[in-house]
Amino acid sequence: MAGAPETGYPAFRKSASSDVAIVGGGIVGLTTAYVLAQAGVSVAVLEARKIGRQVTGRSTAKVTSQHALIYNYLIEKSGFETARLYADANQTAVRRLCDWVRTESIACNLERKDAYAYTSRPARRAAIEAEAEAARCLGLEAEALASAPLPFATVGALRFRNQAQFNPVRYLIGLAAAVTTHGGRIFENTRVTNVKSGKRWRVSAGGHHLDAEKVVLATNLPIAGPIQFDKLTQPRSHVAMAFRASPAGMIDGMFIDVDRPTHSLRMGADREGPLLIVLGAKFKTGQEGDVARRFRQLEKWVRDNIPAGDAAWRWVNEDYDSPDRIPYAGVVGPKAPGLYVATGFNAWGISNGTAAGMTIADQIQGRENPWAKLYDPTRKSPKGFNRGGDTKSLVRKIEQIPPGEGGVIKRGKEKIAVWKSIGGTPHALSASCTHMGCTVTWNNADLTWDCPCHGSIFSCDGRVIHGPATEALSRKKLA
Ligand SMILES: Cc1cc2nc3c(=O)[nH]c(=O)nc-3n(C[C@H](O)[C@H](O)[C@H](O)COP(=O)(O)OP(=O)(O)OC[C@H]3O[C@@H](n4cnc5c(N)ncnc54)[C@H](O)[C@@H]3O)c2cc1C
Ligand code: FES
Repeated sequence: MAGAPETGYPAFRKSASSDVAIVGGGIVGLTTAYVLAQAGVSVAVLEARKIGRQVTGRSTAKVTSQHALIYNYLIEKSGFETARLYADANQTAVRRLCDWVRTESIACNLERKDAYAYTSRPARRAAIEAEAEAARCLGLEAEALASAPLPFATVGALRFRNQAQFNPVRYLIGLAAAVTTHGGRIFENTRVTNVKSGKRWRVSAGGHHLDAEKVVLATNLPIAGPIQFDKLTQPRSHVAMAFRASPAGMIDGMFIDVDRPTHSLRMGADREGPLLIVLGAKFKTGQEGDVARRFRQLEKWVRDNIPAGDAAWRWVNEDYDSPDRIPYAGVVGPKAPGLYVATGFNAWGISNGTAAGMTIADQIQGRENPWAKLYDPTRKSPKGFNRGGDTKSLVRKIEQIPPGEGGVIKRGKEKIAVWKSIGGTPHALSASCTHMGCTVTWNNADLTWDCPCHGSIFSCDGRVIHGPATEALSRKKLA
């Protein structure tokens, strides 16, 4: 984000119609819009904030079909054909994305890099070898190495050559520009609050309506529809940091540890120069009482293992896991004709999100798509995968909340979320998430209110940052 220009698409202020309404301007929404606009379909994208700057823009943006250790798992749990389709979808998406960067001349720092999944534990070497074998059987080029080219000791690595990394915000800015060149419309600062079926679909934002034959909910977790994806997915967050690169700590490639706690690494850059980007282990959104502690742990791990300069950037990002590690994407079916969804990317949604967008665009045009069955959002899934939790921020008295921190206090039956500014002024909101009423948790690193049930995130003054919530936390008065 720090290396990307601002965008200035208008807000949606006048009711209109189009063939297809796309809600969400992340990688899924903009890929779908791009493929459809290229084919001459009229599309309009409604984005709640600014395009590309949410989950996609905060990711590590490895463009790869290597998703740590997955292929052996998929063969065992879902069968060879499903695993083959997953490999094909993701490797094709890597290729297609790189082609679009070239054909649309998108300046997004795309670089071809090898992807490595490494281990530092001798007992895990066999798993790396088995994964290389499984990936090769599925048609991917994979090899097992004795170690990874990293500045600390490893004892095994899986290498996929010729994968890629890029700046995801710049990529989506370029894709959005291509959408408009092909006649599509893009609106920013437009949060959709209602999606209704009828003779046509009606998508509403700020009192204005967009009527369309088909609607794509590309909101990371669908905000409407007959399938309760909030029960079928688990929101998980990671802390990430970027350090000023030190010559002895430069790494060539993209790396992920297959052991716990997982770390993921790559180089990147901002306007001041090269950065080492490092990601920490995942945790359930809103179920961690001290997110700042995770940053301290991550920094310690970096200082213990890799020469690096000052910490330049810190951020949190979240995505949704699915029970079988396969995303849900595509047409919802007879219960909601003309509705398309995409979620559950398991933190591998750059390639999967591209393949999902291509799948949805094919389905909208009535074309066969090889991955429709793989991603089928109506497939049978085990219930109870979502482990919603309770707030981690309850305090008895407002005086217990230090300046700069947040806490939840009880007032009769009501729970109030109180954040105190650095000067100590308290700001009170309802602690009930506007999605389904769970009590929010204070995130002491991002200064946000995070919902422990389905991953909605609100700013300290209550505005929605991440859905599925569409309404702000209401303001409360402290008596
Ligand atoms: C820490 C982390 C690192 C990751 N690294 C990688 C990686 O290296 N490689 C990889 O393949 N994947 C990675 N991923 C996963 C990947 O980033 C995501 O799966 C993918 O970006 C999801 O794309 P999306 O379009 O669903 O979501 P988003 O990019 O969030 O797009 C959804 C858009 O919908 C908008 N929206 C939401 N609600 C509304 C509404 N009501 N009205 C209008 N608009 C709305 C949002 O503002 C947002 O812009 C990572 C994920 C995490 C958490
Ligand atoms: S996100 Fe569902 S209750 Fe908060």
